Amino acid sequence: MKSIITGSGIGIPKNIVPNEALTRLMDTSDEWIRTRSGVQERRYADPGQGSAELGSMAAEAALADAGKSKGDIDALIFATMTPNFYFPGNGPVVQAKMGFPESIVTFDIRQQCSGFLYGLDLADSLIQSGKYRHLILIGADVHTPFMPWEKGWASTIGEPARELSPEDYAFNTSIRDRTVLFGDGAGAVVIESSDDGDRGFVAAKLFTDGSNIEALYVPGVGFRRRPYVDREQLERAEPIPVMEGREVFKQAVVRMPESVRAVCSAAGVSVSDIDLLLIHQANLRIVEGVGKALGLKPEKVPHNIERYGNTTAGTLPILYHECVRDGRIKPGMLICFTALGSGLHWGAALYRT
Ligand code: ACO
Repeated sequence: MKSIITGSGIGIPKNIVPNEALTRLMDTSDEWIRTRSGVQERRYADPGQGSAELGSMAAEAALADAGKSKGDIDALIFATMTPNFYFPGNGPVVQAKMGFPESIVTFDIRQQCSGFLYGLDLADSLIQSGKYRHLILIGADVHTPFMPWEKGWASTIGEPARELSPEDYAFNTSIRDRTVLFGDGAGAVVIESSDDGDRGFVAAKLFTDGSNIEALYVPGVGFRRRPYVDREQLERAEPIPVMEGREVFKQAVVRMPESVRAVCSAAGVSVSDIDLLLIHQANLRIVEGVGKALGLKPEKVPHNIERYGNTTAGTLPILYHECVRDGRIKPGMLICFTALGSGLHWGAALYRT
């Protein structure tokens, strides 16, 4: 039995935020953001639009694309690090919002930028177990709630914002290395069991290394603290992610190529057999560096970070969907998904279209 993707869809907020809009909030420039990260613009969700709302939008589109109704789906996997609520996860939120039957089984997973990749392997494993035949996998994240919204950020989506004080500007500048990289977005795929020859998942190699969690994490709002959130944490900006950019960059350009080689070796194919490398969109320099390390021509390594920034669990399904839509993914191709993110979690998966 093979696991095959039978439909895909995306949930993209309407608000386009070009780099120039951020230059009004902090000491940054379009030139720095473009050359250091590749991002030209990103999308910001509307107020009240969370990862469950964007994920539902993507899931509706994926179901329609696959020609499936909600009653056809046995299980739902939702990958996000930014759920609507601390608990429950987005699974039950989406079940009710979209009207899936109560018989649906929902899994909430949180592997950050590798969430969709881990979700693919989990979906394949659930299908291989024989217990489920029709799944929907959603990857979605909203980063705007991490932004210090009261310090001028409302202006980015055309809402009235109070005048920026020098203190607000200085604070925004102090977190500029992270805020300029991220956007909001979602993607979803329908995955089904099939005995249709060679099509489907081939192999996955996933990894975890928690020895340096502080390289990329949220220091506040955790349940080792009593209470888990308080005024002092807010004053110290501890709900805002901390990232050692250079360290994560170095890990990304080494570990992703290693995992691609590992999964190719496990599947008995060579890296040059890969027709398309779908890589997590965290930084264009990382995307290009990984492609180069693997000896893949640039046309085999598509990117869309220019338009969306890093949408964490949303990036791989959005990229997959766009490549299907514009004809870059064709039947018979060997696709490789790879990602690295907070945890660290990373890995690669091979899929024959
Ligand atoms: N605008 C202008 N200047 C900036 C900005 C900005 N937005 N951000 C940082 N700078 C400055 C720094 O202050 C520094 O100035 P200094 O030299 O005077 O100290 C200078 O630019 C260079 O800073 P670096 O950190 O060395 O810049 P780098 O080239 O490494 O780029 C970046 C930073 C974009 C964060 C990069 O390191 C990166 O992409 N890292 C990996 C991110 C990643 O993969 N994250 C994983 C996924 S996220 C997840 O899992 C949730």
